[in-house]
Amino acid sequence: MSPLVVAHRGASAHRAELTFAAYELAIEQGADGIECDVRLTADGHLVCIHDDVVDRTSSGTGRVSEMTLAQLSELDFGSWRDGEPQRVLTFDALLELVVASRPDLTVFVESKHPARFPGRIESKVAATLGRFGLSRPATKDDARVVLMSFSTLAVRKLREYAPRLPTVQLIEKMGEQGRDGWLPPWADYTGPDVELLRVDPGYVERSRAQGHDTYVWTVDTAEDVELCRDLGVRFLATNSPIRTRGYLSAI
Ligand code: G3P
Ligand code: CA
Repeated sequence: MSPLVVAHRGASAHRAELTFAAYELAIEQGADGIECDVRLTADGHLVCIHDDVVDRTSSGTGRVSEMTLAQLSELDFGSWRDGEPQRVLTFDALLELVVASRPDLTVFVESKHPARFPGRIESKVAATLGRFGLSRPATKDDARVVLMSFSTLAVRKLREYAPRLPTVQLIEKMGEQGRDGWLPPWADYTGPDVELLRVDPGYVERSRAQGHDTYVWTVDTAEDVELCRDLGVRFLATNSPIRTRGYLSAI
């Protein structure tokens, strides 16, 4: 089966990452899912920003966790990328887009879990999903949301606060966990970097033998797309859904 195509930070090869425009385009390009990073502002709002500071992706400087939503709303998150101004995207606004979109669109939510305040982002994510009616699907296969993090504590908290939703334990380095096709009891999938699969392609099969599928990031070249397809990866995250679809149909 062909992997499901997830737009990493939206269609971020074409629009400023994690902006409304990037997600609108991802949906237009026919992505099966969209991926977003979430952080908490100083006044307790969830926003879609990757880095712990706003310096790289906005007109401002400073730590997200030390700024209010009003302060973030003054910044331009788009011009640095393509000259098109964009407002900060709140998690609520992203979910409004998701519920107004195709019913089969899945959102992959990554908690950028801070060591300080363990569980705060995760409980807020679960509560927000509950408000949108997205936290209690009949079965995990019906879920429109997948929760994930590199932090094992964050994934455990996400599982605790939203037990009906599938979780991904992201894996950055192919250590003991990767070699063994490790599936922690609090996760439904593991999420290795595609670079790790190039070194150890057997990882996907070993994981499958233990009963779990794989979410792989960030898959942008024809060679990597073909590798994921050949290995039977279930989800692949890409910065360009349209190019990745093209590679998949050309294989
Ligand atoms: O989808 C997982 C991937 O996004 C993890 O890496 O740094 O892009 O958040 P990063
Ligand atoms: Ca991410």
